[in-house]
Amino acid sequence: MCGIVGFIGNEEASPILLDGLSRLEYRGYDSAGLAVYGQEQGVQVVKAKGRLKGLSDLTQGGATVHGSLGVGHTRWATHGAPSDINSHPQVSESGRFAVVHNGIIENYVEIREFLQSKGVTFVSQTDTEVVAQLLEYYYRGGLLDAVNKTLNRIRGAYALGIICADHPDMLIAVRQDSPLIIGRGECFHMLASDVTAVIKYTREVSYLDDGEIAILTRDGVEVRDRYRQVVEKAVSHVDWEVSAAEKGGYEHFMAKEIMEQPEAFRKTVFPRIKDGHVLLDELEFTPEYLKDMDKLYIIACGSSYHVGMVAKYNLEKLLRKPVEVTLASEFRYCDPIVSERTLALVISQSGETIDTLAAMREAKRLGARVLAIVNVVGSTIAREADDVLYTWAGPEIAVATTKAYSTQLALTYLIGLHFAEVMGAISPESYARIVSELLLLPTKMESILEQRDSIQYFASLYFNHPSIFFIGRNVDYAVGLEGSLKLKEISYIHSEAYAAGELKHGTISLIEPGTLVVALGSYAPLFEKTMSNVVEVKSRGADVLGLTTGTLYDAMVKTVDHAMAVPETHPMLLPSLDVLPLQLFAYYVALQRGCDIDKPRNLAKSVTVE
Ligand code: AGP
Repeated sequence: MCGIVGFIGNEEASPILLDGLSRLEYRGYDSAGLAVYGQEQGVQVVKAKGRLKGLSDLTQGGATVHGSLGVGHTRWATHGAPSDINSHPQVSESGRFAVVHNGIIENYVEIREFLQSKGVTFVSQTDTEVVAQLLEYYYRGGLLDAVNKTLNRIRGAYALGIICADHPDMLIAVRQDSPLIIGRGECFHMLASDVTAVIKYTREVSYLDDGEIAILTRDGVEVRDRYRQVVEKAVSHVDWEVSAAEKGGYEHFMAKEIMEQPEAFRKTVFPRIKDGHVLLDELEFTPEYLKDMDKLYIIACGSSYHVGMVAKYNLEKLLRKPVEVTLASEFRYCDPIVSERTLALVISQSGETIDTLAAMREAKRLGARVLAIVNVVGSTIAREADDVLYTWAGPEIAVATTKAYSTQLALTYLIGLHFAEVMGAISPESYARIVSELLLLPTKMESILEQRDSIQYFASLYFNHPSIFFIGRNVDYAVGLEGSLKLKEISYIHSEAYAAGELKHGTISLIEPGTLVVALGSYAPLFEKTMSNVVEVKSRGADVLGLTTGTLYDAMVKTVDHAMAVPETHPMLLPSLDVLPLQLFAYYVALQRGCDIDKPRNLAKSVTVE
């Protein structure tokens, strides 16, 4: 997904833009560029297909492009192949306007045809170029007037950064369905796709809402809403360290974030447990509301959806209420059954995933109350939900989520315990047992991570397998979904996760000598049944890598080719332990295959376009 940075101040803009873009690289991109206004040279544009290092080399680290007003961009191609000319910034015919954009201008074809009929010459295949050309078309000397007229004409999702050669004291930010933040400095201001790009320069940030325009000058920021009325924006202080968004000596962000999980779990859970009790002060759910709830609808995408799959097993067991888990992209178009008695649990690391955001808005429109689990503070989903619980995982840079997944899982445990207690649906003994096991989880997670060498060994055996299956039952199946996605995402190996009992309904036809099956057998009540499925695939020639708990290890290792064991814990909490070997397995397989682990091909950290 594209990354945007803008700067207006009294220092050279280029080095700051390049540094900001480097902190957005994790979002995934295929080209990069910047535009800087300088008194002598006017608007200078330097852009190229390829990595950010290429842009830095072209500008000698920004030294050859002078000026204190500028915008920068890393492009994840949607309209128009990755190329120099399709890179951003896109400029108007005269070169007066330079625009960077994240999102999609849905009606760009009609606008392009209109402007071409007026004699405008287009040079790129991008949708974004119509914004630069429209600005020019409407421009009669007033920058804001041209911006307003342009925004009235375009449709779609867009975060825009705009500079104009005639207005060197203004940097324009516009937000519609694509995230954009404002960084506030002493005598400078910045705009960016997310906080990581500005935190080195300022911790004071504001989050633009849909329809808002921000006019940034060296002395201040004015924000206007969709009706062009001036609005006061809250200023938030970002309290995590810059180092949190750096590798800290690890080869990859993903490795660092895998290892950070015990600490992220502690930060997310421990402040919310006092004297053996779960305290979710952020929430106000009454016994009446929860008892009257007709359904808990979990809505998410990708790994966040997999958290929901685990939560379904746990929450139905705890609450004895129907829990439905759905992909956000499906929920929006399936005419869902939602009422005022429905609680929608929306899960999102970024808080900006467009499918999840749109599904949440649809659930609200249908009358549901929305509780969100989000990692990025101040993100759109967090701000639009009725209630929000933050995972305190810190910034997650690797495209493949790990610590956010684990802390989302943790919050579903806390929500289940809290709701069950409020409803009087759990005995004090069961409650206490789960809480005490929760508090032991981070230490148990650490013991697993210490065994990562053995997991690296397994990866060395199997990294060339063309197809890898994950099978399990109940929560083992749910965490197998995540293990399979991790492997696919970063190693590009085809993989599927199946409910072990489902194999015989078709998929077992794919099992042949040499197929690798990862069998998850930690959930003790169904261990025997899973092991019978293991025998089925073994008898057809599969290699089987087993994952179970210490007490079941001896039983498993007799049947499988290799086995890993995780410490015992409450059945509900098993996924928090089982997911770690699966994350490490995926990581080490991808490492053996020389893949771009932090920035896998075709993927973006947050998918803000449909
Ligand atoms: C997970 O490793 C992937 N990066 C992806 O599936 C991700 O979980 C999904 O896009 C949802 O993102 P979100 O949690 O930010 O909404």
